[in-house]
Amino acid sequence: MAKIVASVNCSHVPAIGAAWDLGKTDTPYWAPVFKGFDFSKKWIADLEPDVIILVYNDHASAFSVELIPTFALGCAGEFKPADEGWGPRPVPVVQGHPVLAAHIAQSVILDEFDLTIVNKMDVDHGLTVPLTLMFGQPKEWPCKIIPLAVNVVQYPPPTGNRCYNLGKAIKKAAESFPEDLRVVIFGTGGMSHQLQGQRAGLINAAFDKRLLDNLSKNPQEVAGMPFIEYFREAGSEGIEMVMWLIARGALETAVREIYRFYHVPASNTALGHLILENDSFSRT
Ligand code: DHB
Ligand code: FE
Repeated sequence: MAKIVASVNCSHVPAIGAAWDLGKTDTPYWAPVFKGFDFSKKWIADLEPDVIILVYNDHASAFSVELIPTFALGCAGEFKPADEGWGPRPVPVVQGHPVLAAHIAQSVILDEFDLTIVNKMDVDHGLTVPLTLMFGQPKEWPCKIIPLAVNVVQYPPPTGNRCYNLGKAIKKAAESFPEDLRVVIFGTGGMSHQLQGQRAGLINAAFDKRLLDNLSKNPQEVAGMPFIEYFREAGSEGIEMVMWLIARGALETAVREIYRFYHVPASNTALGHLILENDSFSRT
């Protein structure tokens, strides 16, 4: 079976990608951000996943107001970095896993989650920045990556509960896949931030930290939080964190918190990062 053994949550601030691409990782502003991922890079290199399911949101790069899928699963063989206005990032093309992706699509759709199947999609900073943070800049990404794009840009986004349950359906789907694969699921975006309007620049560290605590120990409570509370407490873009619940739902109830990192500022938001492993998982 394909077993989802761990989750990685982290923010996807586009300026982090620019800092990396322009060689600014050692500057006083950015050095602490990248240093916060030293442990994580070693952890994932040692874990050697076969596949990453990467839950992220598109920022009007692959999609636009013309087409807004709530959940879009990348079933293609490869996904190119998107041109977000200043040329595509100089990062490897993402190699997908079409067979596992098609299996997940079939399983979760039969479980009554209406995924959109995507056979061609460029991937933006929402997907590439977490990869840069976790892997730096290899010639190729070290494993296959299945993108799962979630609409958190155009109201209405999916509820936390729906995301949490979709994660559970993805777990079930993976476990019915015939080939033995080690899978890590990424839940990305966040943390609290607002990019426009009167509250532009909002960061709510107390909210962020509570969310990190509860995601580990009390995901059901996070799942029950309505959209309006994200909006009120975490700013208009804080709803990106609903995607973290898909990753949490794909793990077992009992997890170990392996690593946590929280740093302000990173552009207009806090950089939050969490690694969880299933309690039942051991590498030996
Ligand atoms: C910023 C954060 C985001 O999540 C995003 O998609 C765009 C910008 C920011 O902090 O600048
Ligand atoms: Fe974003």
